[in-house]
Amino acid sequence: MSKEKFYITTPIYYPSGKLHIGHSYTTVAADAIARYKRLKGYDVMFLTGTDEHGQKIQRVAAQNGVTPKQYVDNIVKGVYELWSLMKVTNDKFIRTTDAIHITTVQKIFKKLYEQGDIYKSEYEGLYCTPCESFWTETQLVDGKCPDCGRDVEITKEESYFFKLSKYQDRLIKHLEENPEFLQPTSRRNEMINNFLKPGLEDLCVSRTSFSWGIPVTFDEGHVVYVWIDALSNYITVLGYLSEDDSDFQKFWPADVHLVGKEIVRFHTIIWPAMLMALELPLPKQVYGHGWLVLEGGKMSKSKGNVVDPVVLVDKYGLDAIRYFLLREIPFGSDGVFSNEALINRINSDLANDLGNLVSRTVAMIDKYFGGSLPDTLESGDYDADLRETVLGTVEKTEALLDKLQFSSALTEIWKTVSRTNKYIDETAPWVLAKDEANKPRLAQVLYNLAESIRIVSILIQPFMPETPEKIWYQLGINKTSDISWEMTSKWGIYKTEYTVQKGDIIFPRIDIKKELESLKDKATIEVKSEVKSEAKKKKVEVDAESKPTAKQEKENMEYITIEDFAKIDFRVARIVEVEPVEKSDKLLKLKLELGAETRQVVSGIAKHYKPQDLVGKQVVLVANLKPVKLRGVESQGMILAASDENDEKLVLITLDDKMDTGSKVR
Ligand code: MSP
Repeated sequence: MSKEKFYITTPIYYPSGKLHIGHSYTTVAADAIARYKRLKGYDVMFLTGTDEHGQKIQRVAAQNGVTPKQYVDNIVKGVYELWSLMKVTNDKFIRTTDAIHITTVQKIFKKLYEQGDIYKSEYEGLYCTPCESFWTETQLVDGKCPDCGRDVEITKEESYFFKLSKYQDRLIKHLEENPEFLQPTSRRNEMINNFLKPGLEDLCVSRTSFSWGIPVTFDEGHVVYVWIDALSNYITVLGYLSEDDSDFQKFWPADVHLVGKEIVRFHTIIWPAMLMALELPLPKQVYGHGWLVLEGGKMSKSKGNVVDPVVLVDKYGLDAIRYFLLREIPFGSDGVFSNEALINRINSDLANDLGNLVSRTVAMIDKYFGGSLPDTLESGDYDADLRETVLGTVEKTEALLDKLQFSSALTEIWKTVSRTNKYIDETAPWVLAKDEANKPRLAQVLYNLAESIRIVSILIQPFMPETPEKIWYQLGINKTSDISWEMTSKWGIYKTEYTVQKGDIIFPRIDIKKELESLKDKATIEVKSEVKSEAKKKKVEVDAESKPTAKQEKENMEYITIEDFAKIDFRVARIVEVEPVEKSDKLLKLKLELGAETRQVVSGIAKHYKPQDLVGKQVVLVANLKPVKLRGVESQGMILAASDENDEKLVLITLDDKMDTGSKVR
């Protein structure tokens, strides 16, 4: 019999900067479900990827003096590395710059145009540049973008439009008749009452004001704009409209699209309307989860309050971080990230409850029976209750995971862990061990502990990729059939022939006071905004890439210590040679004199200085910056300049030849 399929997706990420722990949240959640479904025997397709087009990327790339493709290639490399570090088991990774995606989006656009669902017109509207969204007057909140709260501007250009309004009634009917389609339920009411019922306007789906996008094949100068490009990824990756569409036939419709709450609207209105126009089945479910926030609002690079997942994993271990993300916050609600909450969870749930249970059990089997339990077992009080609690957990965990209730599922599993710890207190093995006559009963008690841990170790697999194996090693379990998912509903599987191995402590306890003290000044872990009131908080809940207002910048100002500052080695240097960098109109290659040393630096100042005007100038060099290659040319540092936001005005910091080169700047 062929396996049942299961298709789950995460949103595709904007590679306009490093991903933070908020992004990891969605992907870890999707990974847990994918792992769970595989364990249950499904044929899983788990998709993640990157959304690489748009004005924002074009702008950032230009600021960095590289092409948009070079820019995204570099960041996407970091995205791959992050998912590999977090042991994310995606089956496919789509990039919207992949050839297959580009050609299929072009086909979709043409098809919709030819059948009359896309038409050409002119758009004048209120546009939010960071969100790449047009809004109607009525949708604005206090005259600002309803998604990010920033200013919108009137924009007019020739555009293609998708007839979204045509699908309004069908969309309302679908949402009303299929409660499972959009979860949690509160988001469904919001979509129906705030967006669908007030009326849908047709959607602008092409732009002419920037070029970094998928070209419309039949109208030069137009590029497909944002949502038709991004949303189609879920089917282009499966080979829709391509020569080999077997994956599409097999996996579409998606079983779950996991998305953050701010993009629910696109996934439950625009996406289903597109699918209706293409006469394709709709995804079975869109799940809009909440945000991971720091005190003061959503994590965002522009606010400087991002938490780096690489730093966290390095410090506390992958499983602790994955456990925290999925346990601490009920999926669907917003939740606050704090180092204190994280360390408390590690200490209580992982080190104390689970870690101790494993190490105590292994130590007792080792101490009282030399590593392997005898066959002479003898049942007694508390055994039946323990067994029933443990065996009942599987069903509850499955029911909760099927509803994406990660936190409740983990709570159920930890009830079993606690029940098992209580069993140790009830049976007091150290008392039994005092009398040789109690050995069969002692063996039974320890057997029950091992058996309970075996079942827990299987159940935690979707959440924790590393811990189960450590437990199996310590319990000496070496038959994979004893740890398959089905074996969570059977008691008596642990073998008396297994030999336990004492190993490292799985979750070391953290001294919370010391740890919090040591984290105080480390911006890499967490930087708290000082925003206190709800009103202020709302204002700073902004999208990751937008520029903060001057006021927000002030509110979010964080200080560095003098030690932080002292890490940067600023030096006086003289420019002695200048030449342009090939194929770049922004970059110049400079040779600098730095005392007795010479340095080569590549600088993005070509638009502001002619080479001949630079030779002889004394500038300030960041001398201990890690060398990088720009356009294939090595740059050994960076020279300082003042510039406006768009780098339209730029002036080098110079020293009028009054200092020796190599002098320190402090
Ligand atoms: N590119 C679009 C998605 C297109 S899907 C066809 C996008 N990208 S994003 O990089 O800005 O965000 C990707 C996902 O990360 C979103 O679901 C977003 O909600 C999620 N998160 C970003 N910051 C987050 C938190 N602080 N907390 C939880 N999730 C967050 O939107």
